[in-house]
Amino acid sequence: MSSMQHPDNDLTINPSGNESIRDVMDRFTGRRNFIKGSLATATFASLGGFSLESLANGAYTGSPSPAGGIGFTGVPANIAPMTDGITVPSGYTARVLIAWGDAIGKTGPDANTHWNPATAMTTARQLTTWGAHNDGMHLFPFPGTGAAGIANDRGLLVSNHEYVDPGLVAHTTTYGTDVITKAMVNAQIAGHGVSVIEVRKVGGEMKVQRPSAFARRITGATPCKVSGPAAGHALLKTAADPSGTTVLGTLNNCANGYTPWGTYLTCEENFNGYFGTTAAKLAAQPLTALENRYGMSAGGFGYRWHEADPRFDFRDTPNEPNRFGWVVEIDPWNPNSVPVKRTALGRFKHEGAWTSVGADNKVAVYMGDDERNDYMYKFVCAKKMDTKNRAANRDLLDSGTLYVARFNADGSGQWLPLVWGQNGLTAENGFADQGEVVIKARQAADRLGATMMDRPEWVAVHPVTREVYLTLTNNNRRGTAPASSNKIDGTTVAASARPPVDATNPRRDNRYGHILRWTETGGDVAATTFQWDIFVECGDKLNANAHLQGNIIGDDLGAPDGLWFDKDGRLWIQTDQVGNATGDFVNIGGNAMFCADPATRQITRFLTSPRNCEVTGVTSTPDGKVMFVNIQHPGEDWSGSFTSNSTWPDSGFNGPTTQSGNAVAKPRSATVVITKDDGGVIGT
Ligand code: FEO
Ligand code: CA
Ligand code: CA
Ligand code: CA
Repeated sequence: MSSMQHPDNDLTINPSGNESIRDVMDRFTGRRNFIKGSLATATFASLGGFSLESLANGAYTGSPSPAGGIGFTGVPANIAPMTDGITVPSGYTARVLIAWGDAIGKTGPDANTHWNPATAMTTARQLTTWGAHNDGMHLFPFPGTGAAGIANDRGLLVSNHEYVDPGLVAHTTTYGTDVITKAMVNAQIAGHGVSVIEVRKVGGEMKVQRPSAFARRITGATPCKVSGPAAGHALLKTAADPSGTTVLGTLNNCANGYTPWGTYLTCEENFNGYFGTTAAKLAAQPLTALENRYGMSAGGFGYRWHEADPRFDFRDTPNEPNRFGWVVEIDPWNPNSVPVKRTALGRFKHEGAWTSVGADNKVAVYMGDDERNDYMYKFVCAKKMDTKNRAANRDLLDSGTLYVARFNADGSGQWLPLVWGQNGLTAENGFADQGEVVIKARQAADRLGATMMDRPEWVAVHPVTREVYLTLTNNNRRGTAPASSNKIDGTTVAASARPPVDATNPRRDNRYGHILRWTETGGDVAATTFQWDIFVECGDKLNANAHLQGNIIGDDLGAPDGLWFDKDGRLWIQTDQVGNATGDFVNIGGNAMFCADPATRQITRFLTSPRNCEVTGVTSTPDGKVMFVNIQHPGEDWSGSFTSNSTWPDSGFNGPTTQSGNAVAKPRSATVVITKDDGGVIGT
């Protein structure tokens, strides 16, 4: 399987040639003043004990220190030879809730039937069990006896399943040369998508409720409705769906989001990797500009699905890729609801979709396009949220304005509208209508001169101040004259394909990434201007290259990806590097989760992870006392051997075993539950 490519390491780059503040080469070091002024009460956010008056008074920069503080003692980095397990601070306990192939509790004969990892996964078994490679996740609490009538002991836990390692699914170490069958492809497709499980506290411990009428799997084959400006568009029509309104499935569901009206947003990221074609077909009909801009290639990421299913051969079914790359809205409270691809939010490699609701009930959705030198977007709904009538918000995400960000060197920024008929988004430039603008959102944004970013991943919106934080995970394609030693993967790219550094992306070969933040003008989520600041440049204080040492106060980290504010305003940061504590990460160690104070910028390591995994996805009960964290792709090395790196969680875990209790056979992605031994709020 050596030809397989990790979807988070797609080598595509933005070829648009945008200049991204070419005139400004000064290194950006200072903190910028954020907008002063009134801060309104967040309609749906917990106030967590903040004093809004004190925030609005005087020279306010950033957001305040968290209510309740950060009180744990950090854990050491998991350096080589790594521990193949989870470590959390003294006074905390982590245990596995559910892992790939464990029963989700779907009502029926298989409510408690787990998959045995010593065999290949089948489509039938996968449809009643937890999907592969869990990523973004959110807990929707039931009504209950907690504050505001919300339960802390019962909820729907909804998680993405970003991708699969085909060799793990098929139980083979030679996937790259095996004959691919439709059954193998279908089992992989079933491992993708979303799981909904019900969790309940039983005997003081949060457990999966089996059976539950809410338990559900949505996969890469589940019918999804298309809505918004691209619904029924000619570019979305296929022989199997001549209406262009019903897509089979959702794929590469990376990070996520949720709406205040109680729906889940799952985001399609590196969809291009599942498609392929033959060299002969590609020679006869070369890539279109659209295909090129979204990274289509004959081999894809090595999944080889197109060899067994013409849906994934983009010369046999050329419009099928256009039906992916969207934000998909799911109502977890109705197990029969049809997922809806909300095309108004644009088509790109969506990392996630994070809502921010203004005091006036206007709704904005922040979305990163996770590609080297791609863009940051915001969607503003045309209609305000109805706080009294949930059903009135059902199609709120279908109409509004999609914007892309331009960051100026002086700390200001603009949201540029991607609206058909404006700014050259016209028929003569290849945009026949708004449907074509959203389908070709990247190319539309290229025309507007958006700022190329160092791979925008997760967003977190502060629960009270509405300040927006964004992880920029890394970029080894920036800087006009990089030293050959300044490479992550050794790939040589023409200097002309590299944008120079700029104020918001100030480091060449930015292998450790940084975290950006901004506030909208006037605190208005619908504002078209903002003020920005770099929260932190990540790095290794022991790195010999001065520009890679970063400016972290506290524990060093690199490749920030997951980002989340808890109810009290603690900023949680999760990392996604190779995860084996070698090379650039020999000092920083494997992937981890950190807790940051937005005011002091102090960063403390809270959790370390098993070998060769990624820490991604975090949510909690409303009281903040039970936290859920996703551990993705333990053991992964893309050579076909997984157990040589990790056998987590079935062994190597210092807590209770997984619910399936399987013998050690292969490492499995899993969701971990973290509690504080004294019953307190996580992080205090
Ligand atoms: Fe799937 Fe950009 O992480
Ligand atoms: Ca991931
Ligand atoms: Ca990610
Ligand atoms: Ca990542």
